[in-house]
Amino acid sequence: MQVDELLKPFPIKEFHPFPRALLGPGAHEMIGPEALKLGFRRTLVMTSGLRGSDIVHKITESLKYHGLEVVVYDKVESNPKDYNVMDAVKLYQEHKCDSFVSIGGGSSHDACKGARISLAHDGRNINDFEGFNKSENQKNPPHIAVSTTAGTGSETSWAYVITDTTTDPDNPHKYVAFDDASVATLAVDDPVLYYDCPVDYTAQCGFDVLAHASEPYVARLNFEPSMGNALYATKLVAEHLRTAAWNPQDLSGRQGMMYAQYIAAQAFNSGGLGIIHSISHAVSAFYDTHHGLNNAIALPRVWAFNLPVAYRRYADLAEMMGVDTSGMTVVQAADAAVAAAIRLLRDVGIPERFTDIRQDTYSKNRLGQGPTKFYQRASVIKGDDGDIDRVTHHVLGDACTPGNAKECTFETVRPVVDHCFNGDLDDLIS
Ligand SMILES: [Fe+2]
Repeated sequence: MQVDELLKPFPIKEFHPFPRALLGPGAHEMIGPEALKLGFRRTLVMTSGLRGSDIVHKITESLKYHGLEVVVYDKVESNPKDYNVMDAVKLYQEHKCDSFVSIGGGSSHDACKGARISLAHDGRNINDFEGFNKSENQKNPPHIAVSTTAGTGSETSWAYVITDTTTDPDNPHKYVAFDDASVATLAVDDPVLYYDCPVDYTAQCGFDVLAHASEPYVARLNFEPSMGNALYATKLVAEHLRTAAWNPQDLSGRQGMMYAQYIAAQAFNSGGLGIIHSISHAVSAFYDTHHGLNNAIALPRVWAFNLPVAYRRYADLAEMMGVDTSGMTVVQAADAAVAAAIRLLRDVGIPERFTDIRQDTYSKNRLGQGPTKFYQRASVIKGDDGDIDRVTHHVLGDACTPGNAKECTFETVRPVVDHCFNGDLDDLIS
């Protein structure tokens, strides 16, 4: 019997693995001993550098103290590019490394996952592995993923996201690859390493968590084992993101958001995502803007777009967002979820439209500074018809789109994209 024949009567869903994890204040002290236990001898540290903090220095020195040889690749870019992955592969091969430690947010972890996949296939270009479970060889180098942000969840997920700059330099393509072989060996989520994260970046990453929590809760996949994590992660974001952003040395906020990151990623790992992520990937592809920032701008619009097919689920999310829904109809409660998301976005100071993002206003903004001619020219987000069309086309080709709660066509998604660029959030509040 063919698989698709089996799927009709028995809609089989798949649970994807998580790595072992160390969580909580002080967990980073265990990186050296854990690396030794895993048999690391010469490890490649992959990071963006985290300049302005001493985290990379502290961890590399600790690894050396435990007797490891350390090689550092610290040029991972935000929205990691294919050449970041391939440069790291080359460095790994040149130094005959046997393992990886990634330190940072999603970019460092994702580039590292890509490098491991490439190395398992004799250094083949990472862009060959776009899609689902493309690894032919499941064995790749061991990897400790150390988080310094609370957003990505890449330390525990089977996803990695890469920008392909090779196919058409004037039309970059950002894709998400899902691969069980990419899962790290050990995840480390230590809120102490998150204290140095700036306010704006904390806020933006927090909305990545909210997207990871809410998209599987309403996704077509309807993966029941994800629902508890999705709801609880939403509650943690609502309770802790403001504190994490505005009181950065308060452990409760930092720790709450790190747990939210961890369990939200476990929700989407098997529960799927939706077009918050597809819009975010598309805008990053063309403007190199930050993933969490893009998610934050897209989230209220996509929640409003999806409401008619999932009122009950959005009413549940409203409750988790802290709305007192007693006395409300399900539809009123679902509407209140959108209002609560907009309130949170405004409370943590996130710009409300893509056209509000300027070259010099946000710490992770690389408008006009990117490494290729394309990015150098993309210094202003125009939000014109051309922008909206190409982003909409990119959205429809994204691996996250089929999971979206509501069916997506060019005609239905284009107005959502247009609103992300040019619309007023107050339009969404009844
Ligand atoms: Fe994400």
